[in-house]
Amino acid sequence: AQRQVIFSGIQPTGIPHLGNYLGALQQWKRMQDSADPETTDLIFSVVDLHAITVPQQRGNLKKWKREMLAALLAIGLDPKRCTIFYQSMVPGHSELQWILSCTASTGYLSRMTQWKSKLQLADDAHMLDDKAKSSLKHGLFSYPILQAADILVHRATHVPVGEDQRQHLEFARECVTNFNHAYKGKVLVAPETILSPTKRVMSLQLPTKKMSKSDPDPSSRILLTDTPSEIHAKILKARTDSLTPSLGITFDPIQRPGVSNLLQLLSHFDTQDRSAQEIAAQINAEVMGNHGGLGGEGEENPLRKLKERVSEVVQRELNPIREKYLKLLQEDGGKEGGYLDEVIREGARKANESAERTMSRVRRAVEL
Ligand code: ADP
Ligand code: NA
Repeated sequence: AQRQVIFSGIQPTGIPHLGNYLGALQQWKRMQDSADPETTDLIFSVVDLHAITVPQQRGNLKKWKREMLAALLAIGLDPKRCTIFYQSMVPGHSELQWILSCTASTGYLSRMTQWKSKLQLADDAHMLDDKAKSSLKHGLFSYPILQAADILVHRATHVPVGEDQRQHLEFARECVTNFNHAYKGKVLVAPETILSPTKRVMSLQLPTKKMSKSDPDPSSRILLTDTPSEIHAKILKARTDSLTPSLGITFDPIQRPGVSNLLQLLSHFDTQDRSAQEIAAQINAEVMGNHGGLGGEGEENPLRKLKERVSEVVQRELNPIREKYLKLLQEDGGKEGGYLDEVIREGARKANESAERTMSRVRRAVEL
């Protein structure tokens, strides 16, 4: 069988939330558990060079990298099975980025949705005069090239990402075409996208927006490190609605985004694989059975029941992760040369080997 290389990355910009977990990390772990070690390499990078496209407070980056590493181990990634490393420890990433940027099209980059939304934000703030435009940083504009390099330097064949990253993967394939054309050879390998099967997890407070690290309201997201009581409080406080009290809860992402987000979460964790609609029907039926009506207040209201149930399953999923995470950071104590250091050094060694195999071909093709 052809050798598979699965690559993905995550920015060290704070403790991962439930959206990161369901949309990305849990899938990495599943791939690890189902992949055949004989034919599949798994490479996961904490992409610190991407994190500096926006200004970071002094001291944060170092801490966040360690925390992200601990989180990756806590969700069950096994350094014996995967290569886990900090991007900046493998210079091939930034070297290939420069080389790719010499054949990448600025037109394509300027059409990227994420860049356009940055311009739009500036525009909305009425600051899009030439001065403001030119103060937008080049790293924000060109980071899709670094992302392409991350993937291509390891000759990744499969890249699991969320829907929001689909366009960047297409761009990475474009970089392959441009480079191979310019240097007349099949030097780089075009990767396939593996879209995450998980629906986007929405903000608990503004359920028409995705749950995000950058949301200023901390009660909008559940962190992998939240305690059971923090999880409970955030879920009970989640924004919902009481439309159709006589019908109870219904799954309707457009009209009822908050309720639907919670139902989706339950469906995701459901051991019997029921859909969000089926779960809604069942909760309504349970409340009906107990009270003969759905409009009740307090404990026996379908919404309350839904929230209690979400809180329960999320706690059950995250408790062991939080405990392992805290243990890893505590035992390690932030010492140089501790376990986390050892993991990352060995990961960087393997990743450098993988990157060098590609870079020696690239340098030969470019005649560097
Ligand atoms: P954030 O937007 O919170 O900064 P990132 O952009 O660092 O998150 O995303 C890291 C990974 O998590 C990506 O693969 C992304 O698709 C996934 N992800 C982020 N937010 C969500 C969400 N709300 N629901 C599902 N997946 C998400
Ligand atoms: Na993001």
